[in-house]
Amino acid sequence: IHEDSNSASFYVANEIAELIRRRQKEGKMAVLGLATGSTPTKVYDYLVKFHQEDGLSFKNVATFNLDEYYPMQPDSIHSYVRFMNEHLFDHLDIDKKNIHIPDGTLKKEDIRAFCDAYEQKIADLGGIDIQVLGIGRTGHIGFNEPGSSISSKTRLVRLDRVTKLDAASDFFGEENVPQRAITMGVGTIMSATRIILMAWGEGKSRIIKEAVEGEIRESVPATFLQEHPNCDYIIDEAAGSLLT
Ligand code: F6R
Repeated sequence: IHEDSNSASFYVANEIAELIRRRQKEGKMAVLGLATGSTPTKVYDYLVKFHQEDGLSFKNVATFNLDEYYPMQPDSIHSYVRFMNEHLFDHLDIDKKNIHIPDGTLKKEDIRAFCDAYEQKIADLGGIDIQVLGIGRTGHIGFNEPGSSISSKTRLVRLDRVTKLDAASDFFGEENVPQRAITMGVGTIMSATRIILMAWGEGKSRIIKEAVEGEIRESVPATFLQEHPNCDYIIDEAAGSLLT
């Protein structure tokens, strides 16, 4: 538990930077699983700063984003492709071919094959070294809403009403929020070597308590993380205020 989201984000960005440097020395790729939303933005700011001011290179980095709304055009203001470019990728020396984000423009009949190929690409690179997560009020990780199984893989899902309500202001009304998304599964997330879930503010305190101290169950997918051997919650004092 950090005093605030700034020091917590600095800590997380440093762990990511250390992994990248270690992999560089080994002549290997660092494989990152990334999230969008308001939670990780300061981590991305720090990574951009480390690149611009300290010369941290991202040439040996491959990334897999957790999710994208479906359908979604990449140039839309709501697109996670656009979000990632604006907050991170446009400011780094990362090779564009190493960036992977679920494709919101696919035809319905092509989604299954795309999702299987997404899983295969992660496996081909040796799996995810560090998976960064936020958490939704439903306890979702990625867009794995209540009811997602611990072994679920990358797939098309239906968004929970609470998630749509939380996104409503960004979309200028709940009716404009896409009903569906393509997300990495709980199983995909669980197979990462290291997981860092971040949460800031009092609004996350109830779900953080549930995820950390509650019984492991499908109705709160984040509780599955209790079974991961190397998962930390890096949170601020407000998000941790209900923990016993
Ligand atoms: C985003 C994602 C979601 C968010 C979660 C929290 O790629 O997978 O699980 O991490 O909805 O969103 P924020 O950070 O906006 O509170």
